[in-house]
Formats: sequence, C-alpha cells, structure tokens
Amino acid sequence: MAGSCSSSNTSHHVYKCLVFVFLAMQFLPSDAAVKKYQFDVQVKNVSRLCHAKPIVTVNGMYPGPTIYAREGDRVMVKVTNHAQYNMSIHWHGLKQYRNGWADGPAYITQCPIQTGNSYTYDFNVTGQRGTLWWHAHISWLRATVYGAIVIMPKEGTPYPFPQPHIEANLVLGEWWNADVEMLLKQGDQKGLPPNISDAHTINGKPGPLFPCSEKNTYALEVEQGKTYLLRIINAALNDELFFGIAGHSMTVVEIDAVYVKPFTTKSILIAPGQTTNVLVRANQTPNRYFMATRTFMDVPIPVDNKTATAIFQYKGVPNTIIPSLPQLPSPNDTSFALSYNRKLRSLNTPQFPAKVPLKVDRKLFFTIGLGVNPCPTCVNGTRFTASLNNITFVMPKTALLQAHYFNMSGVFRTDFPDKPPTSFNYTGAPLTANLRTVQSAIPRISKIAFNSTVELVLQDTNLLSVESHPFHLHGYNFFVVGTGVGNFDPIKDPAKFNLVDPPERNTVGVPTGGWTAIRFRADNPGVWFMHCHLELHTGWGLKIAFMVEDGPGPEYSVLPPPKDLPHC
Ligand code: C2O
Repeated sequence: MAGSCSSSNTSHHVYKCLVFVFLAMQFLPSDAAVKKYQFDVQVKNVSRLCHAKPIVTVNGMYPGPTIYAREGDRVMVKVTNHAQYNMSIHWHGLKQYRNGWADGPAYITQCPIQTGNSYTYDFNVTGQRGTLWWHAHISWLRATVYGAIVIMPKEGTPYPFPQPHIEANLVLGEWWNADVEMLLKQGDQKGLPPNISDAHTINGKPGPLFPCSEKNTYALEVEQGKTYLLRIINAALNDELFFGIAGHSMTVVEIDAVYVKPFTTKSILIAPGQTTNVLVRANQTPNRYFMATRTFMDVPIPVDNKTATAIFQYKGVPNTIIPSLPQLPSPNDTSFALSYNRKLRSLNTPQFPAKVPLKVDRKLFFTIGLGVNPCPTCVNGTRFTASLNNITFVMPKTALLQAHYFNMSGVFRTDFPDKPPTSFNYTGAPLTANLRTVQSAIPRISKIAFNSTVELVLQDTNLLSVESHPFHLHGYNFFVVGTGVGNFDPIKDPAKFNLVDPPERNTVGVPTGGWTAIRFRADNPGVWFMHCHLELHTGWGLKIAFMVEDGPGPEYSVLPPPKDLPHC
C-alpha cells in the first residue's frame, strides 16, 4: 500500500505520504517491540441513526482504534478518562500471565479509572496470535467502547492456511439511540431490562436497511479471484449473531485466537465475546453482495431482530446496483447452532497442539439460574436476578485482586460451592419453584490450587426460562470437551468427551436447556472473572471469580501491582 506513495511527487503528496508512512509505522506490526497506544475516553456525537445521542468513545471513534501487535510484543495502552462515568478496559482473550493488573474488569482486578485520571495497561502478548478484542468492563459502557485486537504471528511464521490477499476486521455491535447508562438506570428503577437495541452494526455502521443511515454503510472492496481474511468479532451486548455473505461461502480457520481445522459454511454463529476468522474467496460474478448479521434466539424472549448489513463490493461495480441479502439460518434455528458448534475442532498439529488436560484434579458443576426477586418499588413488584449454584454474585467495593494480593480480610470469601445445593431435573418442565437464590454480603469466589486441572460443567436450567448463555473466562483459554442438550449425565457423558482436538477458546455458548463441559490447567495465578457475556445477565449476577493461588516461588506468583493502579 505504501507503494502508492511513489506514484506522484508533488510536495503536498510527499507530505501526505510521510504522514501515511508514519501512521503505518505506528499501526502496522514490525518486529517484536513495545507497542504504545493512547486511549482518550471521551463523549462524542457519532450519530448512526436518526436522533442519535452522543456516546462514550475512545479517541472519538466508534468502534474504537484497533490494537495491532505481534506475538511476543509488549503492549502499553495509556487510558485517560475524560468522560463523566468511571471506566476500565478489558483485553478480552489476552491471558495476562501473572498480570491480572492489566486484565481490566472493574472491582475484580482493578478499581475503575475515575474521571480525569489515567491508567496504563501494560502487558505482554505471549503464546497467542489471532483476533481478539478490547472493551469497557464496567456497567454497560462496552456498548460503544470497544475495538479489535489483531495479533500477528511471529515474524517469518506463516498462517497455517493460504495467505490472504487482504485482511479486514468486521466488528459486530449493538446500537442504542440513547445514553445506555441512563437506559440501564431507568430499567433498574422499574425492575425491567433496558429497551432492546435500536440497530445492529458492522464496524459501527448499521447499513442501508435502517432510516437515516444511508452514509453509514461499511463496504469491503474485493478483486475477482482473490482471497480475503475476515476477522469477525461479536461485540454486541446481548445478542448471539448469525453472519453470512450473499453468494459466497466462508472457510472458518480460527476462533478466539486459536487455529481450527478449516471447514466451509454459508453462515457462522458467533456469541458475544467470541471471534471467528474466515477466509472468503471473491469467486462470484463481479457485483455487490450484502454481508449481513442478525440475532439467533431459540426461546421466546424479546430481542433485537433487525438485520445489519455491509457490502462485499467487487472492484469496478457501480454503487447504484442494489445488493441481495444472504440466506441466514432462521432466527430460532437450534439445530444449525448445535451442528455449527460441533464442527469446531482445534487444529492440533505439532506446531499448534491441543494440550487438553486428560486427568482432572478438581471437578466443578455450576447450574445457571434465572429468577425474580421481590421489589416493592418496581413496576411488576419484582426484579430479575441470575445465579450460579443458586448464588447471585454481589460486586465488591474494593477490587478482589488487590484484596487477594494485599491479604485484606472481609472483601471476599473463598467458599463458593463446587456443586449446587440440591440436584433436580434441571431442564425439565418450567420450574416455577423459586429456589430462593442467596446473595451474601460479600462475594463468594472459588479457590483453585495452582497448576491443578479443572473440569467445569455449566448446566443450564429451566428456572424461569432456559436460554443459551455464552460464558467467558478471564486469564485462560479452555477446551470445550463436551456439550449436550438436557441434563449432564456424570456417568455417560464423560465417556463421549473429545479429549483429542476439542475447540480451545475463551468464550463458549452453553446451549439452551443444555450443558457444556470445559477443562483448563490453572497455571495463571490471580483472580479471574467468569461470567455470562450477555451484559443483561452479568448485571443480574450471572458471574463468579476464581482465585488461583500462587505457585512455588516468585516466578509463579502474581506480579507486584503497577504504581498507577487506580484506587477505589
Ligand atoms: Cu469480554 Cu469479562 O469480558
């Protein structure tokens, strides 16, 4: 691309070239190095639909800037908060070995960055390459505060798939024509979920199917016969999404920054928090084709069912041609969801092995429950709640990692139970019985021995309603060794686990009325959040933290905190 600079020699052009080269040096990966970024959190009007309100942004951009790094790099992001809300940023999927200080979830690993203050997230990118993303990790601010992270393989290491001609990020999001924090507050007072979003977006743009959005369409120009790598990220708050391109099939090559055995599909399913890299060959008649995304929801719960579009545009085709839409699975297509997820397998080659723990030291079984609690001041006299093993997680006032590191007492308890208080037919007929979820005064978290192997079965229940829940674990990747519909059978199901090439990821969907089993080795000391990545459910308490103990000696222990760590 920089080559285009030499085609002209007017001084104005040379100046522009210098600026371009400077930007390229700043944003494109070179050798392993320190990559520095400045994030200014500020409120800006970046109107996307009619009557749009100003939003919280990073550097005035929506989505925010992409972080480029190479495997082995050190990344330093100085975040300065100019907005009226407290802020913290999470680097979703970065393992942050011994370095929870840079992980970001507010009140879990750090106190928020208050208005007018700065904090530098300083971390190494070790043993990971691929697509991840960053987002605000406090309240609902990630609705507009998010961006892509692109980690290139080490210099000279090619991708384990055909080299694409061009790469592009496609960040899928949800847009509200409102200040989401106000919306959340109003909902809270009434005991109701905030309104569903007004639009979905692709790279911050809803596409031409929405009013007042003509100019807000993302287009990717492609050349006939060439192959493109699309880095797709689901940054939506509450919606699992289908994505497809009219007339084209996609080859899935990577999920959550881990290579997979390639397979071809017309549509992908991607849950909030997840990333999916696909190769697409521009092998159709030159034309304009819609890329489209829309919600998957297989229970009767109100969701934003509007379709966002972008354009896969062959070079030279005039903009006047109206593209056609891809055929996405129907919005409630459970069988597509199950069969799509079954196709995901780790690449598992000598270079990229799947190191699945074969022996398990600690077995955990967590039930996912939704419910309602009495609320005399709410419109319906109740408010929604959610729980794991019947416990609704209560947020602490001090960050758990600090409390752990400095041995502060009274901030959390480490007695989170390994299984629910009673077993029942989890996914049977709708369970109206209120199991009375408990909320302790301080958070209860689960303590894990350093380097032990953990198996966690997440079991959906029909308390209030079954629903699909994308669970995200901070600080780790895990292997998805098994999944099924109905109740997990501790005798029969483990026999069917895939311990050879299960998908390795950081966020996994627990199927509606089903279960998912994951395994990981607890080799990263610290306090690590795990939660449903539907912001609605996180807010209701569908979350927990793991305290992974220090290992033997300082090199296996949590690093000392940085000097500028925010105070509560
Ligand atoms: Cu992407 Cu705890 O979040």
